[in-house]
Amino acid sequence: MAEWIKVATLEECPPGSLRSTMVGIDPVVIANVDGTFYAAVDRCSHEDLPLSDGEMEGTNLVCSYHGARFDIVTGTPKGLPAVKPIKTFPVEVREDGVYIQKG
Ligand code: FES
Repeated sequence: MAEWIKVATLEECPPGSLRSTMVGIDPVVIANVDGTFYAAVDRCSHEDLPLSDGEMEGTNLVCSYHGARFDIVTGTPKGLPAVKPIKTFPVEVREDGVYIQKG
């Protein structure tokens, strides 16, 4: 069953930030895009390297290793060399922090 899991406090995710954390055995990257939060698996679908080393351009997450781009809203690849999507997670902001739904 899907459950909501706290992944960060709001202070840990200032606007423009990319934060990496582990949820169980899965790496997750949390992005704060002008106050709206998104979350995805922190592994590029190109070579399995951490997307949290990259940067945001609008809602596109750009991988620092070979330049692949992903729409962090949907996980859709937007630029080569990645051709496979990344998994994204529903996000909820509560008083005590950022939660993702995982299940
Ligand atoms: S590992 Fe991300 S583009 Fe190659």
